[in-house]
Amino acid sequence: MRIGNVEISSVASLAPLAGITDRAFREVCRRFGAGYGESEMVSAKALSFDDKKSKELMELSDNEHPCGIQLFGNEPLLMANAAKLAEKAGADIIDINMGCPAPKIANNGTGSALMKNPKLCGEIVSAMKNATDLPVTVKIRKGFDDEHVNAVEVACICAENGADAVIVHGRTRQQYYSGHCDLDIIKEVKQNVSVPVIGNGDVKDIKSAERMLSYTGCDGLMVARAALGNPWIFRILNEYFEKGIIIQPPSPEDKLRIMREHIELACEYKGERMGMLQSRKQIAWYLKGFRGAAAFRNEAGRVSTLEDMYGLIDRVLEFQKGL
Ligand SMILES: Cc1cc2nc3c(=O)[nH]c(=O)nc-3n(C[C@H](O)[C@H](O)[C@H](O)COP(=O)(O)O)c2cc1C
Repeated sequence: MRIGNVEISSVASLAPLAGITDRAFREVCRRFGAGYGESEMVSAKALSFDDKKSKELMELSDNEHPCGIQLFGNEPLLMANAAKLAEKAGADIIDINMGCPAPKIANNGTGSALMKNPKLCGEIVSAMKNATDLPVTVKIRKGFDDEHVNAVEVACICAENGADAVIVHGRTRQQYYSGHCDLDIIKEVKQNVSVPVIGNGDVKDIKSAERMLSYTGCDGLMVARAALGNPWIFRILNEYFEKGIIIQPPSPEDKLRIMREHIELACEYKGERMGMLQSRKQIAWYLKGFRGAAAFRNEAGRVSTLEDMYGLIDRVLEFQKGL
Protein backbone atom coordinates (compact mmCIF):
# COMPACT_ATOMS: atom_id res chain seq x y z
CA MET A 1 0.00 0.00 0.00
CA ARG A 2 1.16 3.51 -0.77
CA ILE A 3 -0.06 6.57 1.10
CA GLY A 4 0.85 9.43 -1.19
CA ASN A 5 4.54 8.84 -1.89
CA VAL A 6 5.08 6.74 1.25
CA GLU A 7 5.39 3.00 0.80
CA ILE A 8 3.83 1.00 3.65
CA SER A 9 5.46 -2.39 3.57
CA SER A 10 3.09 -4.46 5.68
CA VAL A 11 -0.61 -4.90 6.05
CA ALA A 12 -1.12 -3.84 9.65
CA SER A 13 -0.10 -0.55 11.25
CA LEU A 14 -0.24 0.81 14.79
CA ALA A 15 -3.21 3.09 15.44
CA PRO A 16 -2.77 6.26 17.49
CA LEU A 17 -3.55 5.87 21.19
CA ALA A 18 -3.37 8.93 23.43
CA GLY A 19 -1.12 8.32 26.42
CA ILE A 20 0.13 5.05 24.92
CA THR A 21 1.69 5.25 21.44
CA ASP A 22 4.72 7.15 22.57
CA ARG A 23 8.07 6.92 20.87
CA ALA A 24 9.21 3.80 22.75
CA PHE A 25 6.04 1.82 22.06
CA ARG A 26 5.96 2.85 18.41
CA GLU A 27 9.57 1.76 18.02
CA VAL A 28 8.86 -1.64 19.54
CA CYS A 29 5.83 -2.13 17.26
CA ARG A 30 7.85 -1.11 14.20
CA ARG A 31 10.53 -3.66 15.19
CA PHE A 32 7.80 -6.29 15.09
CA GLY A 33 6.81 -5.16 11.62
CA ALA A 34 4.01 -2.63 12.06
CA GLY A 35 3.65 -0.96 8.63
CA TYR A 36 3.82 2.42 10.28
CA GLY A 37 2.97 3.93 13.63
CA GLU A 38 1.18 7.09 14.62
CA SER A 39 1.93 9.51 17.39
CA GLU A 40 -0.53 10.30 20.14
CA MET A 41 -2.88 13.06 19.04
CA VAL A 42 -1.34 16.52 19.22
CA SER A 43 -3.38 19.71 19.63
CA ALA A 44 -2.95 22.22 16.80
CA LYS A 45 -4.07 24.97 19.14
CA ALA A 46 -1.52 24.03 21.81
CA LEU A 47 1.20 23.99 19.14
CA SER A 48 0.19 27.52 18.16
CA PHE A 49 1.03 28.52 21.77
CA ASP A 50 4.40 26.76 21.43
CA ASP A 51 3.33 24.27 24.13
CA LYS A 52 6.35 22.23 25.22
CA LYS A 53 4.45 19.00 26.00
CA SER A 54 2.74 19.04 22.61
CA LYS A 55 6.05 19.54 20.86
CA GLU A 56 7.50 16.60 22.81
CA LEU A 57 4.69 14.38 21.53
CA MET A 58 6.04 15.01 18.02
CA GLU A 59 9.55 13.75 18.78
CA LEU A 60 10.36 10.79 16.55
CA SER A 61 13.19 8.28 16.48
CA ASP A 62 15.37 7.68 13.45
CA ASN A 63 14.47 4.02 13.33
CA GLU A 64 10.69 4.30 13.39
CA HIS A 65 10.07 5.70 9.93
CA PRO A 66 7.64 5.79 8.26
CA CYS A 67 5.75 7.43 11.07
CA GLY A 68 2.64 9.56 11.19
CA ILE A 69 1.94 12.49 13.47
CA GLN A 70 -1.71 12.91 14.34
CA LEU A 71 -3.13 16.39 14.80
CA PHE A 72 -6.44 17.52 16.19
CA GLY A 73 -8.20 20.83 15.87
CA ASN A 74 -10.97 22.50 13.91
CA GLU A 75 -9.43 25.69 12.58
CA PRO A 76 -8.01 25.22 9.08
CA LEU A 77 -5.30 27.86 9.55
CA LEU A 78 -4.10 26.42 12.86
CA MET A 79 -4.19 22.91 11.41
CA ALA A 80 -2.17 24.08 8.40
CA ASN A 81 0.44 25.66 10.67
CA ALA A 82 0.53 22.53 12.82
CA ALA A 83 1.06 20.44 9.67
CA LYS A 84 4.15 22.53 8.86
CA LEU A 85 5.49 21.90 12.37
CA ALA A 86 4.79 18.16 12.08
CA GLU A 87 6.68 18.11 8.79
CA LYS A 88 9.59 19.92 10.43
CA ALA A 89 9.52 17.37 13.27
CA GLY A 90 10.17 14.64 10.70
CA ALA A 91 6.74 13.09 10.14
CA ASP A 92 6.27 11.02 6.99
CA ILE A 93 2.48 11.25 7.11
CA ILE A 94 0.14 13.70 8.80
CA ASP A 95 -3.12 12.33 10.11
CA ILE A 96 -6.16 14.33 11.15
CA ASN A 97 -8.14 13.14 14.15
CA MET A 98 -11.83 13.09 13.22
CA GLY A 99 -12.77 10.32 15.62
CA CYS A 100 -11.88 11.11 19.21
CA PRO A 101 -15.06 10.72 21.31
CA ALA A 102 -13.77 12.21 24.60
CA PRO A 103 -16.03 15.05 25.79
CA LYS A 104 -13.14 17.46 26.30
CA ILE A 105 -12.27 17.01 22.62
CA ALA A 106 -15.66 16.57 20.96
CA ASN A 107 -17.38 19.29 23.01
CA ASN A 108 -14.80 21.69 21.62
CA GLY A 109 -15.84 20.89 18.08
CA THR A 110 -12.70 18.81 17.45
CA GLY A 111 -12.10 15.04 17.05
CA SER A 112 -15.32 13.18 16.27
CA ALA A 113 -17.34 16.43 16.33
CA LEU A 114 -15.76 17.34 12.98
CA MET A 115 -17.89 14.66 11.38
CA LYS A 116 -20.94 16.81 12.09
CA ASN A 117 -19.52 19.34 9.66
CA PRO A 118 -18.27 17.56 6.50
CA LYS A 119 -17.62 20.85 4.70
CA LEU A 120 -15.23 21.93 7.46
CA CYS A 121 -13.48 18.54 7.25
CA GLY A 122 -12.79 19.26 3.57
CA GLU A 123 -11.54 22.76 4.34
CA ILE A 124 -9.13 21.45 6.96
CA VAL A 125 -7.73 18.80 4.60
CA SER A 126 -7.35 21.36 1.82
CA ALA A 127 -5.58 23.88 4.07
CA MET A 128 -3.19 21.21 5.32
CA LYS A 129 -2.46 19.90 1.85
CA ASN A 130 -1.57 23.42 0.76
CA ALA A 131 0.74 23.81 3.74
CA THR A 132 2.77 20.62 3.36
CA ASP A 133 4.09 18.22 0.72
CA LEU A 134 3.52 15.27 3.03
CA PRO A 135 0.63 12.86 2.57
CA VAL A 136 -2.37 13.83 4.68
CA THR A 137 -4.76 11.16 5.99
CA VAL A 138 -7.99 11.37 7.96
CA LYS A 139 -9.07 9.03 10.73
CA ILE A 140 -12.83 8.98 10.88
CA ARG A 141 -15.60 7.01 12.55
CA LYS A 142 -18.79 5.51 11.17
CA GLY A 143 -20.53 8.76 12.10
CA PHE A 144 -21.42 10.79 15.15
CA ASP A 145 -24.36 8.63 16.22
CA ASP A 146 -26.82 6.19 14.69
CA GLU A 147 -28.90 9.04 13.30
CA HIS A 148 -25.86 10.57 11.61
CA VAL A 149 -23.96 7.82 9.86
CA ASN A 150 -21.95 9.78 7.28
CA ALA A 151 -18.54 8.13 6.99
CA VAL A 152 -18.95 7.83 3.21
CA GLU A 153 -19.83 11.50 2.80
CA VAL A 154 -16.94 12.66 5.02
CA ALA A 155 -14.48 10.28 3.32
CA CYS A 156 -15.51 11.52 -0.14
CA ILE A 157 -15.20 15.19 0.80
CA CYS A 158 -11.81 14.59 2.40
CA ALA A 159 -10.58 12.66 -0.65
CA GLU A 160 -11.87 15.37 -3.03
CA ASN A 161 -9.88 17.89 -1.01
CA GLY A 162 -6.70 15.90 -1.29
CA ALA A 163 -6.65 13.35 1.54
CA ASP A 164 -4.22 10.59 0.58
CA ALA A 165 -5.89 7.82 2.60
CA VAL A 166 -8.87 7.33 4.88
CA ILE A 167 -8.74 5.34 8.09
CA VAL A 168 -12.19 4.17 9.19
CA HIS A 169 -13.08 2.99 12.68
CA GLY A 170 -16.43 1.25 12.25
CA ARG A 171 -18.12 2.67 15.34
CA THR A 172 -20.01 5.89 15.96
CA ARG A 173 -18.89 8.49 18.46
CA GLN A 174 -21.88 7.52 20.58
CA GLN A 175 -20.53 3.96 20.82
CA TYR A 176 -17.10 5.06 22.02
CA TYR A 177 -15.29 1.69 22.02
CA SER A 178 -18.21 -0.60 22.87
CA GLY A 179 -20.65 -2.56 20.75
CA HIS A 180 -19.49 -4.05 17.50
CA CYS A 181 -17.39 -2.51 14.77
CA ASP A 182 -19.47 -2.19 11.60
CA LEU A 183 -17.53 -3.71 8.72
CA ASP A 184 -20.26 -2.73 6.24
CA ILE A 185 -19.50 0.97 6.65
CA ILE A 186 -15.79 0.34 6.01
CA LYS A 187 -16.74 -1.63 2.89
CA GLU A 188 -18.98 1.22 1.73
CA VAL A 189 -16.21 3.77 2.18
CA LYS A 190 -13.85 1.53 0.23
CA GLN A 191 -16.35 1.32 -2.62
CA ASN A 192 -16.72 5.09 -2.78
CA VAL A 193 -13.21 6.53 -2.64
CA SER A 194 -10.22 5.84 -4.83
CA VAL A 195 -7.54 6.56 -2.21
CA PRO A 196 -6.41 3.72 0.09
CA VAL A 197 -8.79 2.80 2.91
CA ILE A 198 -7.44 1.46 6.18
CA GLY A 199 -9.89 -0.59 8.25
CA ASN A 200 -9.87 -0.22 12.01
CA GLY A 201 -11.80 -1.75 14.86
CA ASP A 202 -11.53 -5.01 16.80
CA VAL A 203 -8.65 -6.48 14.79
CA LYS A 204 -7.08 -8.72 17.40
CA ASP A 205 -5.80 -11.83 15.63
CA ILE A 206 -5.40 -13.50 12.24
CA LYS A 207 -9.09 -14.35 11.98
CA SER A 208 -10.37 -10.84 12.68
CA ALA A 209 -7.71 -9.32 10.41
CA GLU A 210 -8.59 -11.70 7.59
CA ARG A 211 -12.26 -10.88 7.98
CA MET A 212 -11.63 -7.12 7.97
CA LEU A 213 -9.57 -7.42 4.77
CA SER A 214 -11.76 -9.85 2.87
CA TYR A 215 -15.15 -8.47 3.89
CA THR A 216 -14.42 -4.78 3.43
CA GLY A 217 -11.82 -4.96 0.64
CA CYS A 218 -9.77 -2.41 2.59
CA ASP A 219 -6.12 -1.83 1.65
CA GLY A 220 -4.61 -2.08 5.11
CA LEU A 221 -5.40 -2.45 8.80
CA MET A 222 -4.83 -0.45 11.93
CA VAL A 223 -4.53 -2.21 15.27
CA ALA A 224 -4.96 -0.32 18.54
CA ARG A 225 -6.02 -2.14 21.71
CA ALA A 226 -4.83 -5.57 20.61
CA ALA A 227 -1.26 -4.26 20.43
CA LEU A 228 -1.19 -3.35 24.12
CA GLY A 229 1.30 -5.62 25.87
CA ASN A 230 1.24 -7.58 22.62
CA PRO A 231 3.42 -5.77 20.06
CA TRP A 232 4.36 -9.08 18.41
CA ILE A 233 0.84 -9.15 16.94
CA PHE A 234 2.35 -7.34 13.94
CA ARG A 235 4.82 -10.17 13.32
CA ILE A 236 2.05 -12.75 13.72
CA LEU A 237 -0.07 -10.92 11.13
CA ASN A 238 2.82 -10.33 8.74
CA GLU A 239 3.98 -13.94 8.80
CA TYR A 240 0.47 -15.06 8.00
CA PHE A 241 -0.42 -12.55 5.30
CA GLU A 242 3.01 -12.54 3.64
CA LYS A 243 3.97 -16.20 3.91
CA GLY A 244 0.87 -18.07 5.04
CA ILE A 245 2.69 -19.16 8.20
CA ILE A 246 1.01 -19.25 11.60
CA ILE A 247 3.59 -18.45 14.28
CA GLN A 248 3.13 -18.67 18.03
CA PRO A 249 3.48 -15.71 20.39
CA PRO A 250 6.87 -15.41 22.13
CA SER A 251 7.69 -17.58 25.15
CA PRO A 252 7.00 -16.10 28.61
CA GLU A 253 10.74 -15.35 28.97
CA ASP A 254 10.82 -13.56 25.64
CA LYS A 255 7.68 -11.58 26.43
CA LEU A 256 9.30 -10.31 29.62
CA ARG A 257 12.53 -9.50 27.77
CA ILE A 258 10.58 -7.49 25.17
CA MET A 259 8.74 -5.70 27.98
CA ARG A 260 12.03 -4.90 29.72
CA GLU A 261 13.56 -3.49 26.54
CA HIS A 262 10.41 -1.45 25.84
CA ILE A 263 10.30 0.10 29.31
CA GLU A 264 14.05 0.76 29.32
CA LEU A 265 13.56 2.65 26.06
CA ALA A 266 10.69 4.66 27.57
CA CYS A 267 12.96 5.59 30.50
CA GLU A 268 15.74 6.58 28.11
CA TYR A 269 13.39 9.00 26.35
CA LYS A 270 11.44 10.35 29.31
CA GLY A 271 13.80 9.90 32.23
CA GLU A 272 13.37 7.07 34.72
CA ARG A 273 10.80 8.77 36.97
CA MET A 274 8.36 9.79 34.23
CA GLY A 275 9.19 6.74 32.12
CA MET A 276 8.28 4.34 34.92
CA LEU A 277 5.20 6.26 35.97
CA GLN A 278 3.83 6.23 32.46
CA SER A 279 4.86 2.61 31.89
CA ARG A 280 2.92 1.07 34.77
CA LYS A 281 -0.09 0.37 32.59
CA GLN A 282 2.12 -1.01 29.82
CA ILE A 283 3.74 -3.44 32.27
CA ALA A 284 0.31 -4.54 33.49
CA TRP A 285 -0.74 -5.25 29.88
CA TYR A 286 2.36 -7.34 29.24
CA LEU A 287 1.64 -9.43 32.33
CA LYS A 288 -1.84 -10.39 31.17
CA GLY A 289 -2.12 -14.15 30.81
CA PHE A 290 0.84 -14.97 33.06
CA ARG A 291 0.29 -17.30 35.98
CA GLY A 292 -0.47 -15.14 39.03
CA ALA A 293 -1.17 -12.18 36.73
CA ALA A 294 -3.75 -10.47 38.97
CA ALA A 295 -1.31 -9.98 41.85
CA PHE A 296 1.63 -9.12 39.60
CA ARG A 297 -0.43 -6.57 37.68
CA ASN A 298 -1.31 -4.97 41.00
CA GLU A 299 2.37 -4.76 41.76
CA ALA A 300 2.95 -3.19 38.34
CA GLY A 301 0.79 -0.31 39.50
CA ARG A 302 3.40 0.53 42.13
CA VAL A 303 6.74 0.22 40.30
CA SER A 304 8.73 3.45 40.39
CA THR A 305 12.22 2.50 39.23
CA LEU A 306 13.78 0.17 36.70
CA GLU A 307 15.11 -1.83 39.67
CA ASP A 308 11.51 -2.32 40.85
CA MET A 309 10.63 -3.67 37.41
CA TYR A 310 13.63 -6.00 37.28
CA GLY A 311 12.59 -7.40 40.68
CA LEU A 312 9.04 -7.88 39.44
CA ILE A 313 10.28 -9.69 36.33
CA ASP A 314 12.37 -12.07 38.49
CA ARG A 315 9.37 -12.85 40.69
CA VAL A 316 7.07 -13.42 37.69
CA LEU A 317 9.62 -15.78 36.12
CA GLU A 318 10.15 -17.65 39.37
CA PHE A 319 6.41 -18.04 39.83
CA GLN A 320 5.95 -19.49 36.32
CA LYS A 321 8.39 -22.31 37.20
CA GLY A 322 6.01 -23.50 39.89
CA LEU A 323 3.64 -24.73 37.19
C1 LIG B 1 -7.06 4.66 25.30
C2 LIG B 1 -7.34 4.99 23.86
C3 LIG B 1 -6.75 6.12 23.30
C4 LIG B 1 -7.01 6.47 21.96
N1 LIG B 1 -6.40 7.57 21.42
C5 LIG B 1 -6.63 7.89 20.12
C6 LIG B 1 -5.99 9.02 19.51
O1 LIG B 1 -5.20 9.75 20.13
N2 LIG B 1 -6.29 9.27 18.20
C7 LIG B 1 -7.15 8.50 17.47
O2 LIG B 1 -7.39 8.76 16.30
N3 LIG B 1 -7.73 7.41 18.03
C8 LIG B 1 -7.49 7.10 19.31
N4 LIG B 1 -8.06 5.97 19.84
C9 LIG B 1 -8.85 5.07 18.97
C10 LIG B 1 -7.98 3.96 18.37
O3 LIG B 1 -6.97 4.49 17.54
C11 LIG B 1 -8.84 2.98 17.55
O4 LIG B 1 -9.49 3.70 16.54
C12 LIG B 1 -9.90 2.26 18.38
O5 LIG B 1 -9.38 1.84 19.63
C13 LIG B 1 -10.46 1.05 17.64
O6 LIG B 1 -9.43 0.15 17.30
P1 LIG B 1 -9.16 -1.22 18.14
O7 LIG B 1 -10.46 -1.99 18.16
O8 LIG B 1 -8.06 -1.90 17.38
O9 LIG B 1 -8.76 -0.80 19.53
C14 LIG B 1 -7.86 5.64 21.17
C15 LIG B 1 -8.43 4.50 21.75
C16 LIG B 1 -8.19 4.17 23.07
C17 LIG B 1 -8.82 2.93 23.63
